[in-house]
Amino acid sequence: MIDLKTKYLGLELKNPLIIASSGMTRSLHLLQELEKKGAGAVVLKSIFEEEITAELNSQITKAQTPTSFYPEIFDAFDYSDMEDSVSKYLFLIEDAKKHLSIPVIASVNCVTSNEWTLFAKRIENAGADALELNMFILPSDFTRSSNDNENIYFEVIEKVKKEVNIPVSLKISYYFSNLGTMIQKLSQTGIDGLVLFNRFFSPDFDINEKKVIPSSIFSTPNEISISLRWIAIMAKRVSCDLSASTGVHDGEGLIKQLLAGANTVQIASVLFKNGFDVIPQMLEVLSKWMEKNKYKSIEDFRGLMSQQASKNPAAYERVQFMQHFAGKGVV
Ligand SMILES: Cc1cc2nc3c(=O)[nH]c(=O)nc-3n(C[C@H](O)[C@H](O)[C@H](O)COP(=O)(O)O)c2cc1C
Repeated sequence: MIDLKTKYLGLELKNPLIIASSGMTRSLHLLQELEKKGAGAVVLKSIFEEEITAELNSQITKAQTPTSFYPEIFDAFDYSDMEDSVSKYLFLIEDAKKHLSIPVIASVNCVTSNEWTLFAKRIENAGADALELNMFILPSDFTRSSNDNENIYFEVIEKVKKEVNIPVSLKISYYFSNLGTMIQKLSQTGIDGLVLFNRFFSPDFDINEKKVIPSSIFSTPNEISISLRWIAIMAKRVSCDLSASTGVHDGEGLIKQLLAGANTVQIASVLFKNGFDVIPQMLEVLSKWMEKNKYKSIEDFRGLMSQQASKNPAAYERVQFMQHFAGKGVV
């Protein structure tokens, strides 16, 4: 009997396959469909810090504004859309919790440790099982040092952990100058999980129109390599759970990340590209592989190919192509 049950952020998941935050996790009917196809958990589409801050500002403005007193001076910025998105988001959490039996993880996209962190409590009160913080500070502000940028991560975690009792995870990029140490330090903050890694909207050029256009929105299977390497290097060296994200497009990718040491694996692009049937297909590949290898549970093989467990740890740190490969025309 194959058992795919997994623990992540202290939550019981029926399997380690999580639907990553994206447009697909923004509406109840899609969430229900994803659950029906066998997803272990869902991460809701992120609400943005700017939306939360705008709602807070509008409450302050309303409280301070005499109602019949030159309302036009407050028209410079219309907060109503932003307010709407906050209440819609809280409603989505409540609705998802009412109609799904798998864990529902809310998500906030943030770049500062400002007052938006108070909002985490409302996410908890709406019933979310956990909160994933999606953070990335593009290091393009030349007045800020790397320490300035890195400190924000620690401040956000501290403030959010003070607000809520539900588990909190942090989804990061690999753009840190000392990535291994940073991941380890973040894991020691009391955070419950780290998601390695987010994949960003990036610009491309249209050379005919001379315009900036979006580069490919969806990942490809060969993009698994960066998160696979870092899950394998960090597994057993962190003080929290690890969830793998980016480039997992099939059952083999799912198995690789579990062998590397991930507690769970998140997917988005492959669902956009190939539809929701990918979920049962991936889970079947995992079950059959476990059966073939005589593994009864995920814990029987999770982390077997982490760097710590490897007889050849140097293989995980090779970054240059060897001369003789190039000489033979392989690369
Ligand atoms: C259309 C789209 C929207 C996304 N929106 C979010 C988001 O709101 N918050 C977030 O944390 N990640 C978001 N992501 C990133 C995914 O959650 C995921 O981390 C990334 O796509 C890499 O996984 P993949 O290779 O399986 O697509 C989005 C991805 C896509 C393709």
